[in-house]
Amino acid sequence: MRIVLVGPPGAGKGTQASFLAENLSIPHISTGDLFRANISQGTPLGQKAQEYMRAGQLVPDEVTIGMAKSRMEEPDAGDGFLLDGFPRNIAQAEALDSYLDENGQKLDAVLDLEVPEDEVVKRIAGRRICRSDSSHVFHAQYSPPKTEGVCDVCGGELYQRDDDREETVRKRLAVYHSETEPIIDHYKAQGLVTTISALGEVGEVTERAMRALGRG
Ligand code: AP5
Ligand code: ZN
Repeated sequence: MRIVLVGPPGAGKGTQASFLAENLSIPHISTGDLFRANISQGTPLGQKAQEYMRAGQLVPDEVTIGMAKSRMEEPDAGDGFLLDGFPRNIAQAEALDSYLDENGQKLDAVLDLEVPEDEVVKRIAGRRICRSDSSHVFHAQYSPPKTEGVCDVCGGELYQRDDDREETVRKRLAVYHSETEPIIDHYKAQGLVTTISALGEVGEVTERAMRALGRG
């Protein structure tokens, strides 16, 4: 299956993507995680992305689209993938459409996670991620690690993301409304969108998502 996950910052895209990708045996491709990995390795791509991410702005399309395409070309993505955080504006959605067309592929579904803004703020405020792998995500209250400050998965150090400060979160939400929300209509026109509530326990949301994908 080829799936796009969309939703505001802090909706739980990364959290759900890990479980869904595992259930569906497809890779979880998060452009945010790819940028963070490049930043921690000090690559030129990471250096380009860092200032935009700190400011809560989108990294320019010419950097992002190339990176996403190369990831989709890796052998593990041949039979499908779950995209998290890409596409994030109309230009990226159109680039993805053309890329899939050229490869004789198409999307199966776009899953839109809906969460009220006050819940998003609580989720982001308590989020702690792993320094070794930013797809290892915890929450100080909602899903605390067994040992405070230590990743349950790999033992790495947990920290708060640079862009999770309140003013940056507000900027990211504004960017989501102006740049990213329009892609929902773009995909509605292709009959691909299912909107689900992302409120409730993590496991409940995963079940809801699996049902929406016809796999429940
Ligand atoms: P990115 O990393 O994609 O961040 P985001 O979209 O802002 O989303 P988040 O990672 O903040 O939230 P999430 O929905 O994954 O929630 P999570 O599962 O962590 O992007 C960061 C930046 O990179 C962008 O601002 C931009 O600069 C750049 N970028 C990335 N992609 C780009 C692109 N395509 N183009 C241009 N620039 C790009 O959950 C949040 C918290 O809630 C966690 O603590 C979690 O434990 C908790 N939680 C999750 N589910 C539940 C639940 N059901 N109940 C209670 N708590 C929950
Ligand atoms: Zn870890």
